[in-house]
Amino acid sequence: MKGLNITVVGAGSSRTPALVGSIIDYKDSFLLKKLIFFDIDNNRMSKMENYIRIVLQKELPELEVIFTTDKKIAYENCDAVLVQMRAGNIEMRSLDEKIPLKYGVVGQETCGPGGFAYGMRSIKAMIEMVNDIRNINTNAWILNYTNPAAIVALALDKVFPNDKRILNLCDQPYSMMRSYAKILNLKQSELSCKYFGLNHFGWFTDIYDKNGKSYLNSLKDYLKNNDFKPYNAEQRSTSWLETYKRVNKYLSFFPEYLPNTYLQYYFFPNEIVGESNPEYTRADEARDSREKEVFEMCENATYENSTILKGSVFGNLMVEVARSILYDLKDEFVIMTRNNNLITNFSNDAIVELVGKLGKDGVIVEKYGEIKPFYKGLMENQHAYEKLTVEACLEEDYDKAIEALTLNRTIIDPQIAKKVLDDLIDVNKGYWTLKKHNKEIK
Ligand code: G6P
Ligand code: MN
Repeated sequence: MKGLNITVVGAGSSRTPALVGSIIDYKDSFLLKKLIFFDIDNNRMSKMENYIRIVLQKELPELEVIFTTDKKIAYENCDAVLVQMRAGNIEMRSLDEKIPLKYGVVGQETCGPGGFAYGMRSIKAMIEMVNDIRNINTNAWILNYTNPAAIVALALDKVFPNDKRILNLCDQPYSMMRSYAKILNLKQSELSCKYFGLNHFGWFTDIYDKNGKSYLNSLKDYLKNNDFKPYNAEQRSTSWLETYKRVNKYLSFFPEYLPNTYLQYYFFPNEIVGESNPEYTRADEARDSREKEVFEMCENATYENSTILKGSVFGNLMVEVARSILYDLKDEFVIMTRNNNLITNFSNDAIVELVGKLGKDGVIVEKYGEIKPFYKGLMENQHAYEKLTVEACLEEDYDKAIEALTLNRTIIDPQIAKKVLDDLIDVNKGYWTLKKHNKEIK
C-alpha cells in the first residue's frame, strides 16, 4: 500500500478533530505519509493544533504533520485535498438562518434563502480554491464536503467541466443508513441502498443486505409506529430530533420511498418556521454545543490525557471515500455526479445524487432509468432553482436571483423573495454582489 499525502482545507473547522479520529481509526487501511492542515484563518486552526499534534504523535508517530497557511506547502505533492470550508464562518451561518425567518420563511444553512446566500459565498471561495490547487497540482483529487454541496457541485461543474478529479459529497445518506442499520440491528457495512435525487433532495428506494434481502417494507412498517431517530440520538439537539421525526410525517402522505431528512424543509415549511426561534437558530445551537465542546477538549488536551473522537459519520465517510479512490477499491457510496442521462427523463446538466462506486478513475454509476412524475416535478423545480442560483452568482444577476428564490419551494412569493434577497445582499457585502439591469446595487 502506497503511503499517501493528504491535505485538509478548512482545517479550522470544529469537525476536524473527528476527522483526525477517523484517520486514526482507519490507519491500517488508509496509510498516510504526510497530513497537512490548511486554513486561511490561522487563529481558528491554532486552537486545535496542540490537540491534533498530541493524538497523532501518540497514534501515528511516523506521520509527518504540517499546519500551514501557505498554499504552496498545502497543495504541492498531495494525493487528495479534503475540503470542508465555511465561507463567512458561523457568524454568517447565523444570518443565513435568521434573515429568512424575519419574513416567515425557513431559515436553514443549505435549503431556501439561507442556502442561496451561503451558496453564493461558497461558489466564489471554491472556484478560487480549485484554481489555487490546479496552479500548483494538476493531479490531486479534490474531495469536497463544503456546503451547500448541491450548488457548489453545479457551479464547479460549470466552471471546470473537464476536471475529472473534483468530487462533491454529502454524509446525510450515509448517516441515515447508519440509523437504519441500528433500527434493523445490523452493521452499517452489511447494508446497501438504492437512492436517487439531488443533494439534500432525494429518496431511498431500497435498503437491502448482501444476500439481496430487502428491508424497505419492514423499515416503513417500523416508521409507522416508531419515531425515526438518528443513530446517535442521545448526542443530538432537539432540532435534529424533530428533523428525523418529520420523516414519519412525510411518509404518512407519501409512503413510497424513504425521504432524505432535508426534504422536510420543502414539504413542511410553515410548521418548521412556527417551531423556529428567530433569535436562536441551529448556528447558535451548534456553536454552544459541538463547537464549544470541541474547542474545550482541544484546549485541555495533554499528552497524558487526550480523547480520540472515533466513528463520526463525516470523518469515516471522508476517509472511506479517499481510500476507495486512492487505492482503487471501488466501494459503494451515494455520490454526486452530472446526470448525463443516468436518470433518463431528467435534465442532463443537473448534478444528481445516485449510488455508485469510486475508484482510481472516479465515479462509476449505472444508469438509473426513469423517475416518476411526482419526483420529476419536484426535482426539475429544484434543479432550476439551483441552476439559476449558480448563474445569478457567476453573472452577478439580480433578476436571476429573484427567479431562483421564487422557484424555491420554501418561498414561492416573489414579494417575499425580494425582501429576503435585499436583506441578504446587505449583510453579504464583501462576499458577493448582484446587479439589477446591469447596475450595481448600493
Ligand atoms: C448533515 C449534512 C451536512 C451538514 C450537517 C449540518 O450532516 O449532510 O451537509 O453540514 O448536517 O450539521 P449541523 O450539526 O452543523 O447543523
Ligand atoms: Mn450534506
